[in-house]
Amino acid sequence: MPKVKFLRSGVEVEVPQGANLRQVALEHGVELYPGIHKALNCRGLGQCGSCRVLLKNGTMRNASPKGMIEKLTMLRSFWTIGCEDEVRLACQIRVQGDLEVLERPPANFSGTYAVEAEAARERLRQGKL
Ligand code: FES
Repeated sequence: MPKVKFLRSGVEVEVPQGANLRQVALEHGVELYPGIHKALNCRGLGQCGSCRVLLKNGTMRNASPKGMIEKLTMLRSFWTIGCEDEVRLACQIRVQGDLEVLERPPANFSGTYAVEAEAARERLRQGKL
């Protein structure tokens, strides 16, 4: 059975092949939605974009391919810029293999996620870049 590791919450679970990632998160108490979106979201219809996650360490290939609804939602969203393959909607993902999931990723105004940008700044400060 595939393993899903949620990086912010530290929850790691084994799930059946084909499990829906949003359902997995909700069943295990992982908070997917930031702020007001806890109450205001589309309940898994793939239209609000508030369940977005970042699939880390190359695990995006273990998620089901994007469908038409997800592609359309992504098209009207700035948060995919520069991370088109890694950013996905949890409600549209069927787990097909091990996943490392950063839930509630920071806003992406620059095309680089803040986590990676901060890590790069730290490497630069240490003279490792
Ligand atoms: S819950 Fe709205 S897009 Fe996933």
